[in-house]
Amino acid sequence: MRVESAEFLKSATRAEEWPRDPVREVAFVGRSNVGKSTMINRLAEKKGLARVSSTPGRTRVLNFFDLQVSAGGRTHRVRFCDLPGYGFAKVSKAERAQWAKMIETYLERRENLAGVVVIVDARVGPTDDDLRMFEWLRSKERRAIPVATKLDKLPKARRIPTLRRIGASIGQTVLGFSAEEDIGREEVWAALLFD
Ligand code: GTP
Ligand code: MG
Repeated sequence: MRVESAEFLKSATRAEEWPRDPVREVAFVGRSNVGKSTMINRLAEKKGLARVSSTPGRTRVLNFFDLQVSAGGRTHRVRFCDLPGYGFAKVSKAERAQWAKMIETYLERRENLAGVVVIVDARVGPTDDDLRMFEWLRSKERRAIPVATKLDKLPKARRIPTLRRIGASIGQTVLGFSAEEDIGREEVWAALLFD
């Protein structure tokens, strides 16, 4: 697995602004501040690609990135979509409703969307918002790829049991990830490219 190129393509709020060419696309969703943009940067091996924020709720648009990776003897094109985080309290109700609508429209209508990486915090486990997201994706027959991040914040002995417990509550296998300790990169890539 080697990343050959990773570039920011564009931002979008309305459907008319989504990229037109039907490249295999993967979206990243999760609670605000959970580590979506950081995961994208780590997968892409490019630090400043997606903006990482110390203030939660910074990402307010859909951000698209084009990547080329070589794996299994061939080159793959894949596009990432970094979505605004949900469950962020410090914005107005109206603004939150507007984001929710934007995210839902995209997840529901995007034809070339191959999978949705749903990121949960390994220390917290799936929140009610996360569980609702899994259920909603299931109802839309969208493929969810659950990933538990910030695994570095758990003592080593607790990592595997925690992943098992999170998996049991979601009803699906969960991949472990850490940007800090570089855990799970290959496994997540394999799930994005090959399933
Ligand atoms: P929004 O765009 O605001 O919804 O946030 P986000 O989900 O994109 O989170 P972001 O990647 O901006 O990361 C939020 C904070 O978590 C930053 O301070 C990151 O450095 C930190 N963080 C992300 N991933 C990890 C990780 O694997 N381990 C640790 N220790 N910190 C992480
Ligand atoms: Mg972000």
